[in-house]
Amino acid sequence: MIVLAIETSCDETSAAVVRDGQHVLSNLISSQVLLHAQYGGVVPEVASRAHAEVLNVILPKALEEAKVAWEDIDAIAVTYGPGLIGALLIGLTAAKAISYTKNIPLVAVHHIAGHVYANFLDTDKFKINALPFPFLSLVVSGGHTQIMHCHDHGTYEIIGRTGDDSVGEAFDKVARVLGLGYPGGPAIDKVAKTGDAYAIPFPKLYVNSSDDLNFSFSGIKTAVLHRVQKHPEDKKEDVAASFQRTAIDYLVHKTIKAALQKNCKLIFLAGGVAANSLLRQEITAKAAEKGITVHYPPMKYCTDNAAMIAAAAYHQVKNKRFAPLTVEARASVGL
Ligand code: KG4
Ligand code: ZN
Repeated sequence: MIVLAIETSCDETSAAVVRDGQHVLSNLISSQVLLHAQYGGVVPEVASRAHAEVLNVILPKALEEAKVAWEDIDAIAVTYGPGLIGALLIGLTAAKAISYTKNIPLVAVHHIAGHVYANFLDTDKFKINALPFPFLSLVVSGGHTQIMHCHDHGTYEIIGRTGDDSVGEAFDKVARVLGLGYPGGPAIDKVAKTGDAYAIPFPKLYVNSSDDLNFSFSGIKTAVLHRVQKHPEDKKEDVAASFQRTAIDYLVHKTIKAALQKNCKLIFLAGGVAANSLLRQEITAKAAEKGITVHYPPMKYCTDNAAMIAAAAYHQVKNKRFAPLTVEARASVGL
């Protein structure tokens, strides 16, 4: 099965061709980071325009690199939500146009499902036709922070989520306070390596947190802001490292608690923050102590890309769950 996928939900324009849901034949990503950096965050209108300009260039390239022709494509998959509505519309409209003119079935994919399925790209460890259900997935991106109990393809239960900011937003806002630029996550990850993670005693989030599996990241964001205002002499590296340790400890603590509660022996990390080196290291070590295995996608598949959308589309295509041409983009939509 050959799927062509398009992803334009935020600030990455991507087109990919994936065989049998797992083998990436091409995955082109045009990042808009430089366009948005001058504003310190994603400007939706700028993102939409850039998607429209770039998509026509990378679509034929994705086919060319994959060495496939339009006739070889079995389905066209596209992110329909959640995301920036104007940005989603560009990808969705392009996919509909292709579907209509080339007579290729359309598949509408949920962006978060895409992040989870990124775990199965280019790996021999898992077969997409025989995934080890049930498993847990910690979804940590710019828009989401949630723990999902995955029972089957398309059957997911959200057992924990943030009530305010996502962890990615917290990284981005703290980076802005520290003057580290945008996007903040990778910047904090990098400078934290030369800082002292115990220099600043931010309160342990899981100690003060509710007993459930939900998160709140607004408190730590404010704590960092107050600290920087009160102690301008602090080294940026130390603040970044201390914040990162506090946020990651919290994610690790609650995710392992969830795995123990649900008796799950396998956790998949998903989303942009799954690229964080401390998260990967800490959760793998802490989970191993409890006999739990953690898996995460290679860096290039953690942040937004179209290959993951093709992977998530695989079972929808198999079950002929195609979308009508009237399918709409959704800024926020549940799984
Ligand atoms: O999944 P993603 O690419 O886009 C959304 O769907 O939101 O996630 C983007 C988020 C941003 O907040 C970015 O700062 C964060 O992922 N991020 C990281 C790292 N790389 C990206 N956060 C922490 N450490 C990283 N290495
Ligand atoms: Zn994403």
